[in-house]
Parts: sequence; structure tokens; C-alpha cells
Amino acid sequence: MPATITAIAAYLPEKVLSNSDLERMVETSHEWIVTRTGIEERRMAHDEEFPSCMGAKAAARALEKAGLKATDVDAILCATMTPDFLTPSTAALIQSSLGATKACCLDIQAACSGFLYGLSIAKGWVESGMYKNVLVVASEKNSAFVDYTDRNTCVLFGDGSGACLVQPSGKGYEIRHVCLGADGAESQLICIPAGGSRRPASANTHEDREHFMKMEGKEVFKHAVRRMEASAKECLDSTGILEADITWLIPHQANIRIIEAISKRFNIPWERTLRTIHKYGNTSAATIPIALAELDEHNAPQSGEHLLLTAFGAGLTWGSSLLTKV
Ligand code: UT7
Repeated sequence: MPATITAIAAYLPEKVLSNSDLERMVETSHEWIVTRTGIEERRMAHDEEFPSCMGAKAAARALEKAGLKATDVDAILCATMTPDFLTPSTAALIQSSLGATKACCLDIQAACSGFLYGLSIAKGWVESGMYKNVLVVASEKNSAFVDYTDRNTCVLFGDGSGACLVQPSGKGYEIRHVCLGADGAESQLICIPAGGSRRPASANTHEDREHFMKMEGKEVFKHAVRRMEASAKECLDSTGILEADITWLIPHQANIRIIEAISKRFNIPWERTLRTIHKYGNTSAATIPIALAELDEHNAPQSGEHLLLTAFGAGLTWGSSLLTKV
């Protein structure tokens, strides 16, 4: 039996950062942002709110939906590119917040593809019989690494988290397949240059604003469309599911034009293509679980419906997954 997502939930911080707020911070306009990205507003965590707090809130909601006690969780995977600390892991902090004392903990650094990498690990652990109750959390405080003087990036990102419980059986979304990929040769395209061991924090790195995210947007855009399309196709080929059988497309939310391109390439109707980008922007690893949580809550997919998930991010990394509602 394929592993199953038996509960899914999200947590978004309350504070809204609108395009008109950004107009007061950098030289940009609501019209440019909406036309070029589809984003109208995004959420921002407050000063004392971190990926671990947001992730723990989403995870607690998922556990509540599943009716599972935190002490029954065997493993916590946390996909984040904006961890609370370089070490310890954000997963360990989430474990402590939840009181999931039995769980082993691991962070996944695959940027915006991190949730799908996490899903793949959870699937392996559950199907091998190693663990029964695995939490996959994706949680990002992008606002801590975004340079609010750089209009090329600051309009794009938001904060938020999503979490799901993966179990050996039950009602929910069967994880039929996950395929993953990466191209480290293009790693310079999205990068936080300093703060790691290669360029430890110093007065110079601080002055040169090297602790903020840098992105070559145009190049990344092309890779995103190409890689997500190829990986989603590989995922369909592996499962034998046809394009026409897909009921919902859940793409990573980086740019509405990227979402449109993927939706068209797979002939998926626009109303069946999940979009949260207008209200949350790009929440990196968290975009897919947030969208899936909203779909689950508001549209209640029917048994037998197929969901195609596809993501792309820094690394470069990418991945796709086919879920079937059971
Ligand atoms: O989640 C990880 C994956 N990330 C992505 O997939 C992001 C992919 N990239 C993108 O979404 C787009 O490339 C961006 C939204 C980042 C940029 O859109 P674009 O259509 O590729 O614009 P561009 O970078 O080619 O810039 C066009 C113009 C430039 O002005 P000039 O040089 O033509 O005079 C930019 O300086 O738009 C200017 N520009 C802006 N203008 C107003 C760039 N950012 C802004 C802005 N407001 N915020």
C-alpha cells in the first residue's frame, strides 16, 4: 500500500504586506507586481514568530485533524531554507513545541522543492515499515532573508507554513509517486552568499548585504518552466496516469506566468490549477502544502481524483508527485 497523507493543514501569519506597502519601500508599482508576478499581497511573520513556531502551529492542526497525539509521532521532517538557526534543526524545535518526544528530527534543505523531497523520504520510511506516523512540515520566514531595498526580489516572497501527516493507510491522499531532481551546476542563480562556512558573517558581508537572497530572476524563470514540465511528465509516465486524468494541478507558487505555462502545457483547466500566489506570494517550501490544505478544506476532492504536484527552487532542485484521493 502506498503511504497516505491522512491530514494536511496550514498556518499563515496575520500581518499582511501589500503591494502598496512595497510601493513606499522601493521603486515599484502595484500594477508592475500584479502583471509580472500575479502577487497582490503576502504575509509577514512578526519579530518573535519563526519557522519553528509557524511549523509547529501547522503541524498541531494536522495532528488534531488526524486525531493523533504528538507523542505518537515517529518522525518530523522540516523543509525550510530559512531555518531558525544553522544548527539545531528547525525540526527539533518543532518537536519540542509539539511535545513529540518520541520523534526523530531532520531538516531538509531543498529550497522551494523541499516539501516534495520531504514527502519522498516520508513515503520511503512509511512503506518500508520503519515508521508509522511521519510529520512533513514546510515552514519559511522568507522576510528574514529578503532585502527590502532590492525590488527584484522583495516583492516576491512571503512567510507561512504547511504540514501533513503521512501514515501507512487511511483516508486522505495516497502518495502514488514522487520524482526528484537537481542541477548544482546552476546553484549561483538563487543564493544567500554569506553566513555559511564559505563566507562567515563579517563586517564586510554585512556591509555588502550578502546575507540576503540574490536571484537572477529571468534565468530562474526559464529553468522553472522547463524543469517542472519535465518532472511532472516523468511523474505521470511513471504512474501511467494520463494528463486528461488529472483533476487538480498544484504547482509551486513563484510567479503566475510560470503557473500559467505549466497549466497550459498539461491542458489543465485554469479553475483546476491551484493558485494562492495572489494572497501569499512565494512562501518557498510551504507553497504546495498551503495550497493542498486549502483545497482539502474548501473543495474536498472526491475519491479517485488525481492531484499533480510540481515544484522548483534553489539548488537548483525540482520535483513532482502524483497523489490520489482515497
Ligand atoms: O521560488 C524559486 C523560484 N523563483 C522563481 O521561479 C522566480 C522566477 N522569476 C520571476 O518570477 C521573474 O523573472 C521576476 C518576477 C523575478 C522578474 O520578472 P521579469 O519579467 O523577468 O522582469 P526582469 O527581471 O526582466 O525585469 C524587467 C524590468 C527591468 O527593468 P529594465 O532593466 O527593463 O529597465 C527591471 O529592473 O522590470 C524591472 N523590475 C521592476 N520594476 C518594477 C524588476 N523588478 C521590478 C519591480 N518593480 N519590483
